[in-house]
Amino acid sequence: MFNKMIAGILPYFPKKLVWIFSKRYIAGETIEDAIRVSKELNAQGIKVTIDILGEFIKDLSEAERNKVEYLELIDTIQKENIDGNYSLKPTSFGLLIDKEVSYNHIREIVAKAASYGNFIRVDMEDSPCTDMEIELFRRLKAEFPDNVGLVFQAYLKRTLSDLQNLMDIHSDEHPNNYRLCKGIYVEPAEIAYKKYEEINQHFLEDLEFLLKNGNYVGIATHDKPIIEGAYKLIEKYNVPKDKYEFQMLYGVTPELRKSIIEKGHTMRVYVPFGKEWFGYSTRRLKENPKMASHIIKALFYR
Ligand code: FDA
Repeated sequence: MFNKMIAGILPYFPKKLVWIFSKRYIAGETIEDAIRVSKELNAQGIKVTIDILGEFIKDLSEAERNKVEYLELIDTIQKENIDGNYSLKPTSFGLLIDKEVSYNHIREIVAKAASYGNFIRVDMEDSPCTDMEIELFRRLKAEFPDNVGLVFQAYLKRTLSDLQNLMDIHSDEHPNNYRLCKGIYVEPAEIAYKKYEEINQHFLEDLEFLLKNGNYVGIATHDKPIIEGAYKLIEKYNVPKDKYEFQMLYGVTPELRKSIIEKGHTMRVYVPFGKEWFGYSTRRLKENPKMASHIIKALFYR
């Protein structure tokens, strides 16, 4: 109850307070921070996916700025020889303002990544964006069949059917490339599973569908039962190492991450950076309200 209350008022917390907690989850504000953290992770045999923080813009001029930032990021990361790709959120490029403008910005970013043989992961946002983000993926994959992928959320009731429908653009030569996660936004019960067990069960069902049909999957979770379930499915379908990877967020469950790497699986860590860290952080805090109460305690029990 106390934790839930804290989570509700988080967006109104002073920024300085949220930063105390957030620095664990965010590389920093600058591209140099992202490079430093990425190199540290690469040195531990971990790949990265780098995300510039920012979403739900109000003005299309922000979309243009965000695009330029991504294009510069891609050139810099290439020069720095980092083993990693990129994640982006379509609403940062105006998806909810002008779909075509956002498509053109994201297309330019994917083209830049493709020019280096690299890859852009389109993050999945909340349910008003789902259809548009699937459509975006379809259009981009038609032009860049190996350089773009999408995220799916196991908590959405529609997910398995979306994955089945997308098999029409899947082939052995150009497999569909997804990240599967639980889903982080607060969605209505009509369209989303709410219970932990239900979400986990559907996560593993979706994963089984993807693995047995030859899709590439980034298994994005810190949840041990799902990771154990994934190991079983990988064994059951004898899935080769180049058809999946595990993914985790920067700063979350590093011990579990290590145990996955020690078993010989590929691991990729999501490295967010940028000035817009506040929205990202308050979502992480809402997701794990226990952490929020730890912050409060740390403040008052010093
Ligand atoms: P769950 O929430 O059940 O957590 C399992 C355990 O992990 C917890 O008991 C705790 O030990 C630990 N843990 C989880 N979160 C923690 C935290 N913040 N701090 C400390 N410990 C924590 N979502 C989305 O909607 N769209 C997207 O595009 C993405 N992209 C994405 C990329 C990557 C690489 C990851 C790992 C996750 C996402 N997500 C996402 C977020 C995802 O949907 C989900 O909200 C979180 O991963 C938490 O779910 P878990 O599967 O970890 O399970």
